[in-house]
Amino acid sequence: MAETQYDVVVIGGGPGGYVAAIRAAQLGLKTAIVEKRETLGGTCLNVGCIPSKALLHSSHLFEAAGHEFAGQGIKTSKVELDLKAMLSHKDAVVADTVKGVDFLMKKNKIDRIVGAGAISKAGEVTVKVAKGGDQKLATKNIIIATGSDVASLSGVEIDEKQIVSSTGALALPKVPKHLAVIGAGVIGLELGSVWRRLGAEVTVIEYLDHVLPGMDAEISKHMQRILKKQGMTFKLSSKVTGAKTGKNDVTLDVEPVAGGDAEKIKADVVLVAVGRRPYTEGLGLDKVGITLEKGFIPVNDHWETKAKGIYAVGDVIGGAMLAHKAEDEGSVVAEIIAGQSGHIDYDAIPAIVYTFPEAAGVGKTEEQLKKAGVAYNVGKYPFSANARARAMDATEGFVKVLADKETDRILGVHIIGAQAGDLIQECVVAMEFGGAAEDIARTCHGHPGLSEIVKEAALAANGRALHI
Ligand code: NAI
Repeated sequence: MAETQYDVVVIGGGPGGYVAAIRAAQLGLKTAIVEKRETLGGTCLNVGCIPSKALLHSSHLFEAAGHEFAGQGIKTSKVELDLKAMLSHKDAVVADTVKGVDFLMKKNKIDRIVGAGAISKAGEVTVKVAKGGDQKLATKNIIIATGSDVASLSGVEIDEKQIVSSTGALALPKVPKHLAVIGAGVIGLELGSVWRRLGAEVTVIEYLDHVLPGMDAEISKHMQRILKKQGMTFKLSSKVTGAKTGKNDVTLDVEPVAGGDAEKIKADVVLVAVGRRPYTEGLGLDKVGITLEKGFIPVNDHWETKAKGIYAVGDVIGGAMLAHKAEDEGSVVAEIIAGQSGHIDYDAIPAIVYTFPEAAGVGKTEEQLKKAGVAYNVGKYPFSANARARAMDATEGFVKVLADKETDRILGVHIIGAQAGDLIQECVVAMEFGGAAEDIARTCHGHPGLSEIVKEAALAANGRALHI
């Protein structure tokens, strides 16, 4: 049988890769996707965004049933945790979701190869097929979408039992008495919240003097205050220099970053959440002259590497390590390969933290605007002034709109509060269209809704909020 000649072979079946494959197939390109996991969906669907959101939702309901229902006039008998069932629910959500991606591959007639793919030469990908043997794929274009892996911390070896990465933290067989989290980034705060809600004492150790690096400082401060009120303990400006695993616990050596006395922190489980690193091992990049820059695959503004016909998208090229950023890049790169033009406005990519309340941001932070010397107006509006938020007992938080002082163009929006991740979306659309704060302010918002808080913040950017 003649060997299939592909137009596109995608290496990596996460959100960047599988979306690239779908878009390429939609545009009539003969496409194959190579993924070494049995299931598609990458880190995000298998051991990241989706299982963590299932646990965040379940644990939020558990906490609400135990502590908040009574305030809404709902009496419950003792609320009990069935962790095994909660974890099974999460596993079922993941299984359904990855099955959905499989279906999309079939629907779009994309060839699926289970195995590790590597570039053997220009125009050829060799797959170490999971079932055994090598398979060579001839292709005009290659899209690398291999994502990222957990970053390790020297002296703290992950065993996925007592010292876990985010993967292990999604499947702890029992609620730890004390969970120590290293890193107050997105993973640390989300998974720390899950286990605190389920009954663990949680201590978060962070190198910097604030949580959620990269987010607007006011949001970061507010988030830390709220999580502290919820019962989380923070040790900021502190670094972990070593870990000793005992039979049932782990002892961490923790030092102040500025120097001073070290202390020991004992925990039953330690979660290492100090970032992720691009995954480029065994891809055969040297065979086609691609050299890494700070560990990432460098690409031009068409997401093409130095090697013609070889593209890369997602975590492996740097920038925000977010599934939706990878998806957009996957889509656009397929369009470029099909001869269309494509563009992504990296300033209009939202970042969301799914704690309760949620935090979300898009565009520039106040700190970035100050540093760049841009004059801006601030419009802020609190959740506590919104009737729907009061009805929901969700009065914590605010929306902050940053608009250019002269043109009123929206430069950034930062939200902390219930459903922030959904509320940010209209701001992303407005920014995509180059919108002004007044555009949001003059747009009719359904009443009574949390989105009215966004509208009021946009009005406030021009000094004319109505309900405050
Ligand atoms: P992160 O980069 O968000 O945070 C890591 C934190 O660890 C930083 O605050 C850093 O200062 C701290 N750190 C580093 N070394 C340390 C040390 N030795 N001692 C104490 N603290 C230390 O990384 P994270 O939370 O691991 O997440 C990885 C990636 O996954 C991120 O890019 C994130 O955006 C993405 N992600 C996104 C989610 C979402 O969109 N909701 C959810 C989960 C992850």
